Amino acid sequence: MNLRNIREQFPILENGSIYFDSASTSLTPNIVIDKMVDYYKNYNANIGRGVYRFSEKASFEYEKAHNKVADFLKVYNNEVIFVKNSTEGLNIVASGLKFNKEDRIVNTLIDHHSNYITWLRLKDKLGLNITHIKPDSNGSFDLNNFEKSIDENTKIVSLTHISNVLGSITPVEEIIKIAHENNCLVLVDGAQSAPHIPLDLKKMDCDFFVCSGHKMLGPGGTGVLYIKKDLQKEIEPLLIGGGTVTDVSLNEYSLKEDYERFEAGTPNIEGFIGLGAAVDYLNSIGMRNIKKHEQKLISIVLEELMELPEIEIFGPEQIENRSSLICFNYKGVNPHKVAKIFDEQYNILMRSGHHCCYPLIKHVINKPEGTLRCSLYLYNTEEEIKIFINAAKKISKRLT
Ligand SMILES: Cc1ncc(COP(=O)(O)O)c(C=O)c1O
Repeated sequence: MNLRNIREQFPILENGSIYFDSASTSLTPNIVIDKMVDYYKNYNANIGRGVYRFSEKASFEYEKAHNKVADFLKVYNNEVIFVKNSTEGLNIVASGLKFNKEDRIVNTLIDHHSNYITWLRLKDKLGLNITHIKPDSNGSFDLNNFEKSIDENTKIVSLTHISNVLGSITPVEEIIKIAHENNCLVLVDGAQSAPHIPLDLKKMDCDFFVCSGHKMLGPGGTGVLYIKKDLQKEIEPLLIGGGTVTDVSLNEYSLKEDYERFEAGTPNIEGFIGLGAAVDYLNSIGMRNIKKHEQKLISIVLEELMELPEIEIFGPEQIENRSSLICFNYKGVNPHKVAKIFDEQYNILMRSGHHCCYPLIKHVINKPEGTLRCSLYLYNTEEEIKIFINAAKKISKRLT
C-alpha cells in the first residue's frame, strides 16, 4: 500500500488534522468527489425515465454502480438495494417481514440502536417476544446461548458483524448455521465490517445484510441493503411509487420483481454513482491490504494504551479478534472532556459518548458516560499513531 498516494486522494487531510472517527463516517477521496461533480457538470438527469442522452448516461452509471457494489459483496446485481444508510435497510426488513403472534426475534446486546429499537418497536406493536443475547465484557459470545434461544418459533436473528464499540468480530457464519437449521432468517449488520474486511455474502449465507456507503469512502446518504433473491417477495416495501411498478390500472398495480420494487422515487443518483467509484477505489487498494494495514496500526494503539495504567480499554485483548477501532477511557474522567482536549490541543479528532449503543454501554461494559473511540481506516499512518500515543501520555500526566 502506497500511503502517500492514498493520502493524496483525500483533500481534507491537507488541513493537518488527524482523523480517528472513520467508524462514524469515513473521509471522501477525490475519485468519489470527481465522479459526483462529473454527474452534475455533464449529465445531470433523472434515471430510468428518459430516452435522451443525459438520462441514458445517468441510468447507465447508476446501474454500473449497482453491479460494482454487488460484485464487492459477492452477490447478484438484483439482490442489492440502494438505501440511504444501514438504518434504512434495517427498517425496511423489520417493517416488511410478516410476523405471526408466536414469532420470536433474537437480537444481541452489542447491537447499534438502529438494529435494536427497530425490533423493540415490533415487540411493542405486535407483542412479539425478543431474546437479547449477552456477550462477555469483551464482546465474545457463547454459541450455546444462540443454540438455546433459537427454535422453530424464531423468525429472525438480527446481529452485528463487528461491534462499533468493542471492535469485536461476531462469528456470524456459525450463528447463521444454527439459525438455518431452525428455518430462521438472519440479518447481518455489516456497517462496521463492509468498509474494513473482505466479504463474501454468498459464502456467509446471511439472508439480509446492511452497510453504510458513507463509512466506506462513499458519499453521505448512501447505504446498501442485500436481500436474498428468494426472500424479496416476502418483504413488503417500506415505500412504493415511481420506479417500483410494472403496471398500474385504475384500481390496481403490480410491483416489479427485483430490487427496483424497493427503490421508490428518485434516488440519490450522484451519491450512488459516487459509491460505485468508492468501491472501485477500495478494490484497487485491495480489502486484504486494507485489513492488514489497519491491524498493524491498531495493534500498536492497543499495545501502547495497555501500558498506561490510567487508561481502561474495552473489547478483545487479542488483536486477531478485533477490528480497526478501540474504545477506551481515562479512569474516572468524562470521555467528552478528553475528546475536547485531543481535538483542541492535539488536532486529533475522535468520537466520545455512547456510540448509539446504550444497551452495551449500560449492561455489558457498565460505563453510563460512554467511552472515547479511536477508529482507523486505510489513510491513517504510523506517524499519526505516534502523535496520538504521545498526546495520550501527556493527557495521562495532566489528568492524574
Ligand atoms: C454497527 C452499526 N450499525 C448501524 C449503524 C447505523 O449506520 P447509519 O447511521 O449509517 O444508518 C452504525 C453506525 O455507526 C453502526 O456502527
